[in-house]
Amino acid sequence: MPTKPTTTIRIDPDVKKRAGEVFDDIGISMSAAINTFLKAVVREGTIPFDIKTDHPKPRPNFGNAKLNHAFIVKKDEFYTQYEDVEKEMLNHQKLLKGKSILCNCDDPFESAFFHFFAVNFNDLELESLTSTCYAESSLAGKEYPLEGGAGAYKAVLTEVPDETIVRPDGSLDLESLFSMPGNYLGHLAGDGDFRTDECKALLRKADIVATNPPFSLFREYINLLESQKKDFIILGNMNAATTKEIFPLFRDNKVWYGESIRSGDRKFFVPDTYPLNATVCGIDNNGRRFIRVKGVRWFTNLKTSRSHTSIELNCLYNKDEYPFYENYDAIEVGRTQNIPMDYEGVMGVPITFLDKYSPDQFEIIMLANGNARTNVSSKILSEVNYRKHPKDKGGVGMINGRRAYARILIRRKSL
Ligand SMILES: C[S@@+](CC[C@H](N)C(=O)[O-])C[C@H]1O[C@@H](n2cnc3c(N)ncnc32)[C@H](O)[C@@H]1O
Repeated sequence: MPTKPTTTIRIDPDVKKRAGEVFDDIGISMSAAINTFLKAVVREGTIPFDIKTDHPKPRPNFGNAKLNHAFIVKKDEFYTQYEDVEKEMLNHQKLLKGKSILCNCDDPFESAFFHFFAVNFNDLELESLTSTCYAESSLAGKEYPLEGGAGAYKAVLTEVPDETIVRPDGSLDLESLFSMPGNYLGHLAGDGDFRTDECKALLRKADIVATNPPFSLFREYINLLESQKKDFIILGNMNAATTKEIFPLFRDNKVWYGESIRSGDRKFFVPDTYPLNATVCGIDNNGRRFIRVKGVRWFTNLKTSRSHTSIELNCLYNKDEYPFYENYDAIEVGRTQNIPMDYEGVMGVPITFLDKYSPDQFEIIMLANGNARTNVSSKILSEVNYRKHPKDKGGVGMINGRRAYARILIRRKSL
């Protein structure tokens, strides 16, 4: 009798689990069910049921505050890849030495931040590592439920053994780590919200904050770090740089982008419940769901990462290629690489200029977007001779009656 070949197929773990429950009820194995399906395909010469794409899509109920909140929390759960954390942090190695690191908005059991700092604790000569999780996170306590029920927890390391703490499957040997007398794992009193007094107290004690905070609270988060005068290296979306809270920090050289991400998209792991309804979503070979996100950048105020490399300028100014705005005394420069080397006045450049900006070469004056009239002081608006235009929607640069994109107004620094 010929042997049946074994076939490997990739199945979404959630689908596999739910289908397995149905087959259990019926009393057949997964393999028998798949064979039955394949035999029906052969018998009928087609897929033996209609494949439709017009199922109504589940929608979040925005009329229900609880559901809405849960939906927002879920959207904030993007777990950073180890390679992204490692690549950036190794640039700041010198500055990390002897420091207490705080990873809030995190999860010691899930986070690549905790994993990276724990594994490299001794090489980086860290003083301590603290990671806190948020009770509302759908991953909190799932993998490693702590005694004393669900809720937010905190992990603190002050020592790490010299031998490896990474198990053959790549996970951390948490038992060894937390059996060391200087280390601690336990519940927080509150829900781990970074705005609680308990979490603010941890923030005050930390030297450097490293995390990927919730995207929806990014401005509030960075404002808190600023108000506490903390050093930080955190992940965010470059759109945040154009907000009224964060743009002034870039303008005043209090924040800049980190070293390692300048273009493309980044992969983030998402909870198993995350809907895979976009082409940028998927499931990797280990069965983990991911999403790819564009425009991600490290935001930091760590001195070592500030690039003072000037942009190489090769273009010369001419009236035709660099039109004047109708509402600002400034010229439009559509691409950063086209900044004319011989123009001394104010220039409007794309937001991506921040990827290459050196404060030695240029001064940032303001952001010319739809909020300029409200966000920019009248002193600066008069400095660039802003004239209200009927179509400028709050301060967007106008060229020949058409609105330009949001532009950063800059000026070369005198040599
Ligand atoms: C973008 S994820 C990043 C997680 C982790 N730091 C990483 O990079 O892998 C943001 C995390 O913040 C948590 N979070 C959401 N709102 C929070 C809040 N108000 N306070 C603290 N954490 C929060 C989410 O549950 C989620 O775990």
